[in-house]
Amino acid sequence: MINPFHYEGYALQEQFYGREAELAKIQKLVENSNNLLLYSKRRMGKSSLIKELMHRNRKECYTIYCDIFDIASKEEFASILLKSLAKAHRGDLKTIVNNLKKYFKRITFGITVDPHTAEISYTPRLEGLNFSEMIEEFFEGLFLLSKEKRVIFAIDEFQQIALLDTKIDALLRKYMQEPHPISYIFAGSKRHSITSLFTYSAPLYEMATHMELGGLDNQSVIAYASKYLTINETIVEYLLALCDHETKLMQHIFHILYNTYKDTMITPMMIDKALEEILGDKSSSYTLLYDTFSLTQKKAFKIITSEIENIYSLDTLKIYNIQKASLASALKQLYSKEIIDKEEDKWFVPDRTLELWGKRMLNR
Ligand SMILES: Nc1ncnc2c1ncn2[C@@H]1O[C@H](COP(=O)(O)OP(=O)(O)OP(=O)(O)O)[C@@H](O)[C@H]1O
Ligand SMILES: [Mg+2]
Repeated sequence: MINPFHYEGYALQEQFYGREAELAKIQKLVENSNNLLLYSKRRMGKSSLIKELMHRNRKECYTIYCDIFDIASKEEFASILLKSLAKAHRGDLKTIVNNLKKYFKRITFGITVDPHTAEISYTPRLEGLNFSEMIEEFFEGLFLLSKEKRVIFAIDEFQQIALLDTKIDALLRKYMQEPHPISYIFAGSKRHSITSLFTYSAPLYEMATHMELGGLDNQSVIAYASKYLTINETIVEYLLALCDHETKLMQHIFHILYNTYKDTMITPMMIDKALEEILGDKSSSYTLLYDTFSLTQKKAFKIITSEIENIYSLDTLKIYNIQKASLASALKQLYSKEIIDKEEDKWFVPDRTLELWGKRMLNR
């Protein structure tokens, strides 16, 4: 049997579990063609949740998913939207080509088929069009599609648009306001940048229902884990606390436990050992990353991953031999490198594995 604990890419269908309350809530939004803003700390399971929602609605709706993590310009953003819309057209090559002609008035697509996987990829030819024309072309195609079936259209890593110096959100608002049976889902992980796109006075204000995703709930985890492992509730809770409820790390530890101790009663020691293995595997890349930090950034990172409550106390500044102003500026630099994040005035490392590496390797 393949390992039932998935920890990389998206957990799909039979490897996906829990999240029933969230799915029920999103389902209602989708059925009413309402929009959703989904955010969480890193690796909680946003993308997997969206994929699962799309899978469950694949017959009734057109489901379109795009990830804009890598965009470097607004034109790239438009190109990703157009590609993902083109992909929504299914059928044989002839049908697809005809459909694309019907749905896109000003854009043609280069189409290539991978001979091994038969997967089709699309390259929109965008020469001669400016950004707002590309977006207009996209929405016209999307609106036309929604005449056939309801559409769920998700943009993952949506906070990336905040990095582009342009008014993309205002443009999106203009089209989103049009009455069509489309649910827009925006997902992302940098809490501040993504929610700030939807705050009062921002163009997308009140354009979507907000949902913050926490970890999987304990009962679903216990139910799923005990189907495949000999494990009790207390031990699962120990594991969840260790992972700080981060889904990916939790799943990775379960994955190792399943490979190593499938038929043995799981103990905290086995969990610690699995974590050590993960940290060991990551150690060289984390060390490389850490070595790119300046001296004050290293100190700041150590302080953040220690158990210190008041990071600016005189004691802390003395122990680490750092001035308050340099600590503050090093924290800001680590924030802009996306190594740390901030919530209600408290800094933290959003990647739980990196945080544990810092705690165990740097603060011994
Ligand atoms: N409901 C679930 N059931 C089983 N495994 C899950 C579930 N949700 C997430 N996972 C596992 O956790 C990992 C992280 O989930 P996912 O990539 O969906 O999170 P994310 O919030 O989109 O992360 P990122 O912040 O990196 O975009 C996935 O690779 C998947 O294996
Ligand atoms: Mg994701």
